[in-house]
Amino acid sequence: MNELNAPGAGGAAGAPRTTSQTTPQTNRLVLRRPDDWHLHLRDGAMLKSVVNYTARQFARAIVMPNLVPPVTTVAAGAAYRQRIFDAVDPAYNFTPLMTCYLTDTLDPAEVERGFEGGVFAACKLYPANATTNSSAGVTDIAHVYPVLETMQRIGMPLLVHGEVTDADIDVFDREAVFIERTLSKMIADLPGLKVVFEHITTADAVAFVESAGPNVAATITAHHLEISRNAMFEGGLRPHHYCLPVAKRERHRLEVRRAATSGSPKFFLGTDSAPHEVHAKESACGCAGIFSAPVALESYAKSFEEEGALDRLEGFAAEHGPRFYGLPLNEERIAIERRALDVPERLEAGGAEIVPFHAGKSLEWRYAGVIGA
Ligand code: NCD
Ligand code: ZN
Repeated sequence: MNELNAPGAGGAAGAPRTTSQTTPQTNRLVLRRPDDWHLHLRDGAMLKSVVNYTARQFARAIVMPNLVPPVTTVAAGAAYRQRIFDAVDPAYNFTPLMTCYLTDTLDPAEVERGFEGGVFAACKLYPANATTNSSAGVTDIAHVYPVLETMQRIGMPLLVHGEVTDADIDVFDREAVFIERTLSKMIADLPGLKVVFEHITTADAVAFVESAGPNVAATITAHHLEISRNAMFEGGLRPHHYCLPVAKRERHRLEVRRAATSGSPKFFLGTDSAPHEVHAKESACGCAGIFSAPVALESYAKSFEEEGALDRLEGFAAEHGPRFYGLPLNEERIAIERRALDVPERLEAGGAEIVPFHAGKSLEWRYAGVIGA
């Protein structure tokens, strides 16, 4: 335990910030307890090290299935869910929502059984080799049409890692080209399928989601609200700002910020918090992923405040997601306070270390715990 995964307000009070603002400042916000609609929890020792950073802040999380081997059966999903429950501190009320990893050969009946039996909340589409642990992903969308048709019929959401993998497509264009080549056609062919375009990073994705029907939504990470691609090259190569989809130009970040803070029910919180041990990031071939769970709400609050939209944080963090999934809203309330939070350079993780998002920086907001229903 440390101050970022311990129950309660956590840690000694930092000094309240003084500002030169003349208008009265909001110093404490009470929100419906939020959910994280896109999260990597890993397994084994890493799972035990990271899960309580999320369970402390969020009531539920959509847990990604990209383990080795991936979660492709109801039995594997149920067993993984149990390992998550076993790793969560009993002080927290936390429910993992499991996902099934789509492969070229997945049986639609297995997916239906998992959804109807309450094990799987959604399926995840990784184009093969698009990102970490996606080598078993889908090589051609046509291969999973029978599964997608079943999902459309039973109302099960499809979560899409929206990037093409063709080596001749510039890495910064992979999301936009995926919309053109794959997503537009898939949505036209399956007009009733609930689709979450995950971790969007471009103005193209924002425009696509805004123009699509109500069954198409998107998650937005804390880091894509905060960093443009410059952050990867600031004074040298910065592996802790490398994730997939890779951060884009500033104009895209500004569009993603506009969407997140617009109040539209199509956009909701999904951290894509993706922990890797420090040596796997700081390497000749560093892994993609930003570990944002320890400072998730603090980081979103920073962006929303900068956009003058703190009043829209609750909708984005706690209402749009459950409404899209057709799940009840959380009744608990949490508070965040304007109190300096100094983010450690590294966090201990089962004998190893992980560098969190905003490492070494001071954040203005601090999560202050659950305050009751
Ligand atoms: C994720 C991971 O490490 O599992 N990495 C990342 O950069 N986001 C995979 C993913 O969501 O693409
Ligand atoms: Zn992810």
